[in-house]
Amino acid sequence: MLHQQIKPFRPDFLWGSASAAYQIEGAWNEDGKGPSVWDLFTKIEGKTFKGSNGDVAMDHYHRYKEDVALMAEMGLKAYRFSVSWPRIYPSGSGEVNEAGLQFYDNLINELLAHGIEPVLTLYHWDVPQALMDDYGAWESRRIIEDFDHYCTTLFERFGDRVKYWVSLNEQNYNTNHGFITAMHPPGVKDRKRFYQANHHAFLANAKVIDSFRKYVPNGKFGPSFAYSPAYPASSRPEDMLAFENAEEFTNNWWLDVYCRGEYPQIPLQYLKEQGLAPEFEEGDLELLLKGKPDFVGVNYYQTITYDFNPLDGVAEGRMNTTGQKGSNQSTGVPGLYKTTPNPNLETSNWDWAIDPIGLRIGLRRITSRYGLPVFITENGLGEFDKLQPDDTIHDDYRIAYLKSHLEQCLQAVNDGVDLIGYCSWSFTDVLSWLNGYQKRYGFVYIDRDETDAKTLRRIKKDSFYWYQEVIRTNGGKLTE
Ligand code: BG6
Repeated sequence: MLHQQIKPFRPDFLWGSASAAYQIEGAWNEDGKGPSVWDLFTKIEGKTFKGSNGDVAMDHYHRYKEDVALMAEMGLKAYRFSVSWPRIYPSGSGEVNEAGLQFYDNLINELLAHGIEPVLTLYHWDVPQALMDDYGAWESRRIIEDFDHYCTTLFERFGDRVKYWVSLNEQNYNTNHGFITAMHPPGVKDRKRFYQANHHAFLANAKVIDSFRKYVPNGKFGPSFAYSPAYPASSRPEDMLAFENAEEFTNNWWLDVYCRGEYPQIPLQYLKEQGLAPEFEEGDLELLLKGKPDFVGVNYYQTITYDFNPLDGVAEGRMNTTGQKGSNQSTGVPGLYKTTPNPNLETSNWDWAIDPIGLRIGLRRITSRYGLPVFITENGLGEFDKLQPDDTIHDDYRIAYLKSHLEQCLQAVNDGVDLIGYCSWSFTDVLSWLNGYQKRYGFVYIDRDETDAKTLRRIKKDSFYWYQEVIRTNGGKLTE
């Protein structure tokens, strides 16, 4: 689609940026917080890059006022952050930890005092370890009640001030790594358990949306989906079929349940035949239907290209977590699809394809298929950054990445996508779960590395000033 004239972003567009508790807060065992699964998992040898963990992270727990002041200086309209479940319920359920609630109360009030809309993520992967020990966390249906109880506590406490809520962050990515590649806790490789745990997460998500309607009737709620639109490697019919398989199994499987309350037919039948489909209980289907969101949260980094994979084909490939370009390997599901590099796209040092038009394609697919507003809850470039002796960071590659993606967002708006906001990933640098501290995403550099927390000083990168102008001009800067 080519447009003769381009209309601008809506006047109330939520220009934002994002983070997650484990990746920035630190203070992992302070003020009554219980351990999360990540507190233990990162201590297992070989699980993360150079054994990096979030014990101190960016020390945001103690420096949140300084961080919010930087957001205000930038002119940020929205800030997406996550609440750490074990900070609120150290054992997952039972006694609430008032100090944990107080921390987020303070953060929310600080944001509001600076005119920044809080966007609260209820769950960004840090399930309380106690629930893992107790009943295997997402592998048991017991989590549905516990998650609802935890979320309801937050609705009651913050519902008067927080309008935008995100339920599960990247359920698809997190369960995939938890139960297929074993790279996230609980570190399992079992497709049957993957589909079952994922089903429980859907039920928990739906239950919480149902509660949300009662507690925060004027709020807006959606999941954040790790959306990598699929491409076929070629127009060869076998590749087209692999691409269809990938769309169904890696995207529609989640988006259909969130937005329509039902699993897509073709993959469900296939998994039933294989004995891998989730077990349904009475009431599941009715509950899923109650889980429709107000918006689809999209975390977009890249498109993925697929080609034909025979029954004895590729199943597992190593993922680049070191920043050594070219070390990523193809992965797939035999008989369905396998991934392949797209020769038309540049890649980052972590081998992620850089594809701004892919974002526009994804936004349009969601709009046409589900007709819901979209909120981009993450988009950004993880790269090595160099702190110069004069305390500057010239991240022109990040500016180029964000600019090209925002340009395509504007095109998508003109195509008819109802885009309510855009949160870059991330505001400050964060701990990149498996990739350590060297994979940086922020507008604000943090002086630390994998093994040394150093000074933890905050230093504005060139991209900070660039985004400041984008916000000030409501995107006008993009077309200069
Ligand atoms: C998403 C997550 O997967 O992408 C973030 O929601 C994460 O928490 C981001 O940091 C970038 O991924 P990575 O693996 O490069 O840190």
